Amino acid sequence: MKDFAGKVAFITGGASGAGFGQAKVFSEAGCKIVIADIRQDHLDEAMAYFKDKKAEVHAIKLDITDRQAYAKAADEVEKVFGSPPQLLFNTAGVNAFGPAEASTFEDYDWVMGVCLGGVVNGMVTFVPRMIKAGKGGHIATTASMGGLMGTSGCAPYSAAKAAVINLMESYYQALRPYGIGVSCLCPGGIRTNIGESSYTRPKHLAKTGYNTNEKTIAFMHKHYSYGIDPVELAHIFKKGIENDVLYVVPMPEPEKMMRGIVERMVNFTTPEGMKRQEEANKKRMEEMIKHPNPMMEGAAEAGWGRAREDLTWVKNKGPQT
Ligand SMILES: NC(=O)c1ccc[n+]([C@@H]2O[C@H](COP(=O)([O-])OP(=O)(O)OC[C@H]3O[C@@H](n4cnc5c(N)ncnc54)[C@H](O)[C@@H]3O)[C@@H](O)[C@H]2O)c1
Repeated sequence: MKDFAGKVAFITGGASGAGFGQAKVFSEAGCKIVIADIRQDHLDEAMAYFKDKKAEVHAIKLDITDRQAYAKAADEVEKVFGSPPQLLFNTAGVNAFGPAEASTFEDYDWVMGVCLGGVVNGMVTFVPRMIKAGKGGHIATTASMGGLMGTSGCAPYSAAKAAVINLMESYYQALRPYGIGVSCLCPGGIRTNIGESSYTRPKHLAKTGYNTNEKTIAFMHKHYSYGIDPVELAHIFKKGIENDVLYVVPMPEPEKMMRGIVERMVNFTTPEGMKRQEEANKKRMEEMIKHPNPMMEGAAEAGWGRAREDLTWVKNKGPQT
């Protein structure tokens, strides 16, 4: 998709962070924007930003895990803008950190419910409507670098994002005949509010195996402040969408980065490769000790990435990634 003028863009998580960056950039490109978000305070702040702008922006309070509410939101878009979106941004996501072995069913159900289930709900709700409207379009989903490898400190998130990456390739193939493109963004750190994810965790999924409290949240705010600016990221995503690129990897050398990921998986397929990978991991750890990453400063003191304190059977040594 190259021409964005007059297109309807539906952005989940559009009221904060990466999604809000997309709302700003694509409204400037001429899109009519729907920001859909579970947090009313985020929606209010985002709408206040757009108040003096020329852009047409509509806000919908939506929990993307609620399928009935999602269908209602889709009806509302058609009522307000006269058509289903031509651009669907599956951006909303949450994260939680703690040892994989301490993860509860609720940790999986919440994180995977939003990060994977929410994307599935977006696709099943909107894809048939987009096809029937016959205007083509583009699906732009935000996954994560975290989905390209397993991570012992956020297993549910990594699993959800890996599934999303795979899902986007399936839809990329399926939607070509309809003139609907698919792009999947795989960023590293972004300067956002994702550290506050636990504020929207539903009560019935509250039981966690992870240490999550105001200290860990404060650490995460600092941690993510080192990330890429959401508006800069949205410009990179826009270029990827314009060029119809499936995997948009916002790194200085995306091909080198992806080759490294593939090489790691290749290493994991033979005993010799396993040794090579262990050596590489050891070197990486030594480098990290020699040159500590400022992003991780204060992690141990905050208890970030640890298991809940009463889980004494977990080797509770602190953040592992
Ligand atoms: N921040 C990072 O470093 C980083 C890195 C890679 C990928 N990502 C991905 O970027 C996407 C956006 O996250 P962000 O970092 O901008 O965080 P953010 O918290 O700033 O924004 C996410 C928005 O999604 C909303 N949201 C959460 N659960 C929802 C639900 N069930 N229904 C509707 N809205 C919901 C939140 O209220 C919030 O406004 C996520 O998919 C995240 O996994 C983030």
